[in-house]
Amino acid sequence: MTRRFLFVLGSARRDGNTELLARKAAEQLPGDVEQQWISLAEHRLPDFEDLRHDSDHVRPAPDSTTGLLLDATLAATDIVIASPLYWYSVSGLTKRYLDYWSGWLRTPDVDFKATLAGRTLWGVTALAHEEAEVADPLIGTLNHSAAYMGMRFGGVLLGNGSAPGQVLRDTAALARAKTFFAQEAPLARFPYETPATV
Ligand SMILES: Cc1cc2nc3c(=O)[nH]c(=O)nc-3n(C[C@H](O)[C@H](O)[C@H](O)COP(=O)(O)O)c2cc1C
Repeated sequence: MTRRFLFVLGSARRDGNTELLARKAAEQLPGDVEQQWISLAEHRLPDFEDLRHDSDHVRPAPDSTTGLLLDATLAATDIVIASPLYWYSVSGLTKRYLDYWSGWLRTPDVDFKATLAGRTLWGVTALAHEEAEVADPLIGTLNHSAAYMGMRFGGVLLGNGSAPGQVLRDTAALARAKTFFAQEAPLARFPYETPATV
């Protein structure tokens, strides 16, 4: 299967550090890898409603924002959550997109979980804090979400910066970006599980 990367941009501003860092990493992808970039600020999902236990589940219209994101998610072999660090976790826009995954698990004729199983989740984030470990909650959110979905997890590319463009001064992050998507992405595991051997 040809690899197809979906970059889900979760910043509440344009041309921010997270997108810059994600684009640096994406530059290294081979030319035959398809890329789709979707800004959640430009494609606003409606408030998430928890209809999991209601009987009527309908597939969203393909020309709606929800349909666009569902179809893009299903078509991707690799999903890159490019979210700035907001209050030590993913941004609200990103969280809303992930909340929609819960609804899509029950969308008829989609088989969302089986489709995503074995595919790869990656993270890219920019943060103002110098100490990277404050991003652990974001990393945990993405790792655990991947584990729940039976996905592989490629880890999170972190870069430092506050004002837009500052991440380009983080030379260590730019160096990590060069090889980020070439890394192994093992099957994600919850912390209480034994590490995957494949
Ligand atoms: C609502 C909000 C919450 C933030 N929370 C954090 C935080 O918890 N830790 C941190 O280091 N930086 C925090 N920041 C700073 C951003 O992570 C930083 O400016 C980052 O570069 C923004 O990425 P962007 O340019 O892609 O939007 C926060 C910024 C905003 C707007």
